[in-house]
Amino acid sequence: MITSLMRTYLTRSLQPFTFTNQYDDKLNYEQTEQLGLYVHIPFCRTLCSFCPYCKETYDAKQAQAYLQALLQEIDLVGQMQQGRKQVTSLYFGGGTPALMLQDLATIIAKLHTYFAIEGGIGVELHPGDVNETVLQTLKAAGVTMISLGIQSFQAESLHALGRTPVDFARIFQAVRQAEFSVVDVDLIFAIPGQTTKTLLADIETAFTLGATQISTYPFIDFTFADNAYKPLPEQQKKQMLQAIATYCAETGRERTSVWTFAKTNTQKYSSVTRDNFLGFGVSATTLLKDQFKINTFSIHAYIERIEQGQLPTALTLKFNLRQRAVYYLFWRAYSTEINQSEFKQFFDVDLHQLYGLEMWIAKIFKLVVLVNGNYQLTTKGAYYYHLIEQAYTTAYIDRMWHVARTEAFPEKITLK
Ligand SMILES: C[S@@+](CC[C@H](N)C(=O)[O-])C[C@H]1O[C@@H](n2cnc3c(N)ncnc32)[C@H](O)[C@@H]1O
Ligand code: SF4
Repeated sequence: MITSLMRTYLTRSLQPFTFTNQYDDKLNYEQTEQLGLYVHIPFCRTLCSFCPYCKETYDAKQAQAYLQALLQEIDLVGQMQQGRKQVTSLYFGGGTPALMLQDLATIIAKLHTYFAIEGGIGVELHPGDVNETVLQTLKAAGVTMISLGIQSFQAESLHALGRTPVDFARIFQAVRQAEFSVVDVDLIFAIPGQTTKTLLADIETAFTLGATQISTYPFIDFTFADNAYKPLPEQQKKQMLQAIATYCAETGRERTSVWTFAKTNTQKYSSVTRDNFLGFGVSATTLLKDQFKINTFSIHAYIERIEQGQLPTALTLKFNLRQRAVYYLFWRAYSTEINQSEFKQFFDVDLHQLYGLEMWIAKIFKLVVLVNGNYQLTTKGAYYYHLIEQAYTTAYIDRMWHVARTEAFPEKITLK
């Protein structure tokens, strides 16, 4: 309800976000600046009950067929431009990309034929896959950033998530030796049995063992997940998020987004806050100036489509100006800063012309402050953002993924 009201008001329209199965055969990204790349590897050794992402249990034969399709999708999309495009970064998410370790260099080489990757290359890693050989192979392939899905260092919290502890000291020794520019550690908060004390201890452990930044996600109970234990109530989430923010501020770690905190003087990396990106693989999304598209979630259907020489797109949303501006502002606000001149450059219209009143109200309620002409989220603003992000995750992401998991090519999805 609250999400519908906000969408209606901010887009100044009753028109919901409508994804349909009509899409372009050509993606118009040639003139797009600040373009990122994303590759999805949908295989895991075992499937975690809490995890909503698109993945299946690893099978070597299926992974090889998937690799061939992925390389062909890169050809299909890469050939839509003249020449070689500069892109900001490349991120491998999953799933567990390390299960295709030997293939990552092949995928990177294929991407290099069409794209010059200027910034870093990032990879998500399950702690169970981290050892010296894996890390050295990643480094040799050009990976500069890793994100470790630790979730918690406490046996009790891991148990509540259906995981078992691993030898964290050994893993982080290998990580420190490999010397990546960015080491992100994912932690989940509001796990049943967790306390603020154990959570803050986890944060300290992560930084002490070698994290350059941490991502602290509130535990979300997706409707299609199979959680034996449910997340702690919102009131406790609120207290925990405040405690994380206070602790990080007091210990000199900088807030780099609503849910990420980093050591000062280190390179920052985010897999989500890109203005435009091309996504490859099942469930991967592509965001351009006027459209958002999502690939099929079915590995079988993905391979079949690619073999027919077609894009594996399942659904596309064509943005109008205000819808695109709301989407842009949503992710900029997540990064805690809205830069007015960058907004103007992107949309060719002043932020205040579209949302002057809303920014004024946000300032009056102390959700944002103006610093050197840019809006910065306050701690209070970050808390309200956290609430909104969770509401949209339930109303939009959960709903969309729920349908996409059951139908390879749905006709239409309407998000109100
Ligand atoms: C694609 S997943 C995991 C990457 C890697 N395969 C792993 O298991 O370590 C990325 C991150 O999303 C977060 N996540 C997954 N499910 C979640 C949930 N239900 N609630 C909150 N965070 C979640 C976890 O912190 C996880 O590390
Ligand atoms: S949390 Fe990681 S390992 Fe577990 S199912 Fe999700 S992607 Fe796979």
